[in-house]
Amino acid sequence: MPKRSKISLVGAGNIGGELAMLAARRELGDVVLLDIPEKEGVAKGKALDINQTLALDGLDARVTGTSNYADIAGSDVVIVTAGVPRKPGMSRDDLLTINLKIMRGVAGNVKQHAPNAFVIVISNPLDAMVYEMKKVTGFPRTHVVGMAGALDSARFQAFLAEELKCSVKDVSALVLGGHGDTMVPCLTYTTVKGIPVGQLCSKEKLAAMIERTAKGGGEIVNLMGTSAYYAPAAGAISMAESYLKDQRRTIACAAFLEGEYGYKDLYMGVPIVISGKGMEKVVEIELSADEKKMLEASAKAVRELIEASAKL
Ligand SMILES: NC(=O)c1ccc[n+]([C@@H]2O[C@H](COP(=O)([O-])OP(=O)(O)OC[C@H]3O[C@@H](n4cnc5c(N)ncnc54)[C@H](O)[C@@H]3O)[C@@H](O)[C@H]2O)c1
Repeated sequence: MPKRSKISLVGAGNIGGELAMLAARRELGDVVLLDIPEKEGVAKGKALDINQTLALDGLDARVTGTSNYADIAGSDVVIVTAGVPRKPGMSRDDLLTINLKIMRGVAGNVKQHAPNAFVIVISNPLDAMVYEMKKVTGFPRTHVVGMAGALDSARFQAFLAEELKCSVKDVSALVLGGHGDTMVPCLTYTTVKGIPVGQLCSKEKLAAMIERTAKGGGEIVNLMGTSAYYAPAAGAISMAESYLKDQRRTIACAAFLEGEYGYKDLYMGVPIVISGKGMEKVVEIELSADEKKMLEASAKAVRELIEASAKL
């Protein structure tokens, strides 16, 4: 008998709440919103609030709040936002010590209770957190990916559409590398209706937008006192949807590399195809000499973070 998909969200904070809303509103499946026991009331409260929104909109999905991992059993997708976000003046890497400890606990529970899930990690520092999730669960790389490239590419797209005064629907951008200041915007693959942006915009303006994209998370942290949550949630939902509906979308994500782009045993942002099998393949694209150099610098930063994690 057909059954609804089940999407579990570990962390019911700002991103977790928005993830629940988006997943339910798109009727992707039933949603479990899990947080620590001290925040169980928040998870349950958000679940009720969203269920009442669904009643207004006439949508079929059920959201429940919990702090009990047994409730994520049978999940098709698990999205992890557990941890602390940045405050003004902090880098993503400053979160490593505290979030690593949280991620180890979460990963152990995901392994035990949702062994067949497609896992999307969002918590920062992203590349180290998703690496830890794979290490602790032992899940195949097809089933553990990180959300960052979707968001970084969307940020670049939004800035480009505004600058070029064109519809954001026609803008396609690709940002690779680690999720930090070393991210790599690939201009050859960034287009407006197929036209490379280099033909539409001056080098100076593009450089300014690239800089703004790389620091796009920090810009929002400085304005709000905490991290962005609408766009990060939308990025992860596009990944979950591609998996649940076997859409085979190509999305920039943090993927575990096994020799692709010349890197092994690390997570980095690259284009991947997400199908019903999970991360079905890493798409290897040609990079310019400059982009390769930037990717190398990004990989070095990611490696340093993974080495620091191993010592904690
Ligand atoms: N990958 C990205 O592009 C990206 C973008 C923005 C934010 N982030 C990161 O996502 C994370 C979440 O951000 P947020 O704004 O939702 O933060 P938030 O503080 O609003 O929510 C985090 C939630 O995690 C919960 N939590 C803590 N420990 C837990 C545990 N052991 N088990 C279950 N839940 C636990 C907290 O109680 C809190 O409710 C942060 O680390 C942030 O830096 C990543």
